[in-house]
Amino acid sequence: MSNVHHITHPLIQHKLTLMRQKDRSTSGFRRLLGEISMLMAYEVTREMPTQLIDIETPLEPMKSPVIDGKKTVFVSIMRAGDGFLDGMLSIVPGARVGHVGLYRDPNTLQAVEYYFKMPQGMDEREAIVLDPMLATGNSAIAAVTRLKATNPKSIRFVCLLAAPEGLAKFVAAHPDVPVYTAAIDRGLNEHGYIVPGLGDAGDRIFGTK
Ligand code: URA
Repeated sequence: MSNVHHITHPLIQHKLTLMRQKDRSTSGFRRLLGEISMLMAYEVTREMPTQLIDIETPLEPMKSPVIDGKKTVFVSIMRAGDGFLDGMLSIVPGARVGHVGLYRDPNTLQAVEYYFKMPQGMDEREAIVLDPMLATGNSAIAAVTRLKATNPKSIRFVCLLAAPEGLAKFVAAHPDVPVYTAAIDRGLNEHGYIVPGLGDAGDRIFGTK
């Protein structure tokens, strides 16, 4: 899958291993997710547009590149996506933040939107969608479909773990959206959890288990 970027950097893999461990504390889990977010932000912003500005070094004037962080919008798929925000914002502090809230209808099993809030001027922004777990793919697909209606300049999707079936479904639904993941696990269990996975990311981030 050419639009899938599997980020195999040893630092990310090391920290992910620590996060997966069942005895990792809530604070440890959150700290590691923050650190991985910063490292993933580096990868996902690699092709971010830059513009030249005029500056003066102590020796002479020059034109030098800067990014316009305000043109970036991090879109968190609630609630686990929020765990990515601190790390991403520490690398791109000027970025705006949008939120998408979805729940699964128990009868139809389809993702139903209960919250959607984006900054103004989406047609000028590069959107980076955040959700640690790409499991069935249903909520990621629904969130990106909804986001496309706001007409952002580009969309990228970042997760920590992906299940092969969810990843394939997402890529089929949104072939134009690059996916960045730190791991592609074996699959999904009968409850829709990624295995071997790391459990419920939201519960582990917020200590709600
Ligand atoms: N969401 C989670 O938090 N964990 C999974 O394994 C799958 C979906």
